[in-house]
Amino acid sequence: MGNVWSDIPPINSQARERVGYNTQKPVALLERIIKASSNEGDVVFDPFCGCATTLEAAHNLNRKWTGVDIAIHAVKRIAAIRLRDRLGLKEGTDFTIEGIPHTLEGARDLWQRAPYHFQKWAVEQIDGFVTTWRTGDGGIDGRLYFALPNTPTLQSMAIEVKGVQEVSIRDLRA
Ligand SMILES: C[S@@+](CC[C@H](N)C(=O)[O-])C[C@H]1O[C@@H](n2cnc3c(N)ncnc32)[C@H](O)[C@@H]1O
Repeated sequence: MGNVWSDIPPINSQARERVGYNTQKPVALLERIIKASSNEGDVVFDPFCGCATTLEAAHNLNRKWTGVDIAIHAVKRIAAIRLRDRLGLKEGTDFTIEGIPHTLEGARDLWQRAPYHFQKWAVEQIDGFVTTWRTGDGGIDGRLYFALPNTPTLQSMAIEVKGVQEVSIRDLRA
């Protein structure tokens, strides 16, 4: 191969492999890199695994694989879309996920290690939508949307996540 690879097209908006990550790379690109740098049975480690293109490519090429990502969001997306739907793998049998809390202790641990990710995780636990600084939703961590009978517009409920023991609801008034 030369230094510039132009024979693998980028992922277009209709591509079946698209999982919704803006920076997603084509599986074919990662397969080429993995083939060039490893053998069947080797372990491919992606410590920034995001939407798991590398893990899928490694799986397709009979490599073992491990992925790490700081974002619980990304890990859930990997589990739901990539591993289950695209590769037909089962959690618990074919792969395991570590680091997403399933117990009170696990939730406390996440809060201590990564408060921001704890907030996002907590909002999603109640099917809320996480707000980001981009939305300018002053101090609110998430929102729940719901419909009321005879009301044409969706209503929303503010969610604020607290990892401390004493909580004031003052901020949520208004
Ligand atoms: C562009 S994606 C990686 C794509 C991935 N390698 C693939 O094959 O599809 C970058 C990922 O790095 C993750 N990330 C950023 N900082 C990190 C850190 N310090 N530790 C682990 N993951 C991190 C982000 O959450 C994001 O999901």
